[in-house]
Amino acid sequence: MKILMVCLGNICRSPIAEGLLAEKAAKANLDWIIDSAGTSGYHIGEPPHHLSQKVALINGIDISAQKCRQFNAQDILIYDKIYAMDASNYADIKHLCGKNWVNNKVKLILEELHPGKNMEVPDPWYGGEDGFHQVFKLLDDACERIIQQYTSNLK
Ligand code: 4NP
Repeated sequence: MKILMVCLGNICRSPIAEGLLAEKAAKANLDWIIDSAGTSGYHIGEPPHHLSQKVALINGIDISAQKCRQFNAQDILIYDKIYAMDASNYADIKHLCGKNWVNNKVKLILEELHPGKNMEVPDPWYGGEDGFHQVFKLLDDACERIIQQYTSNLK
């Protein structure tokens, strides 16, 4: 499986999602490729936000080696599944994909936990550390569900 996590900046939310899913896939002996990208180009080449790094590390996950990149229309051809953090990320992904768009590959990540609710991972960019802990918890639960669902479907 190749899975891409997408948010606006690829600096706060999707780097945490990438780190979490990579960690959980490795623990489950799944040879998955996990990456993340931003729909904007504001932070290309930068490491994750210092609070994303801090909160991930408190929880035992080192995301410091990640580098921000921008989502592009080839990504939807390369990845099996693309997870958007919020509805505007979803709309931006669709726009950036153009004629490559494939509806069933792209999903709001919290749909894994609460199907049909269109819930969003809130953007912690303008807030304090608490927001990053909240994001981590939501993404931890969602990534756990992704692994559980995949492994139970194999049985
Ligand atoms: P992210 O958060 O989409 O979770 O990475 C943001 C990061 C940067 C900006 C907005 C949101 N920004 O406006 O630069």
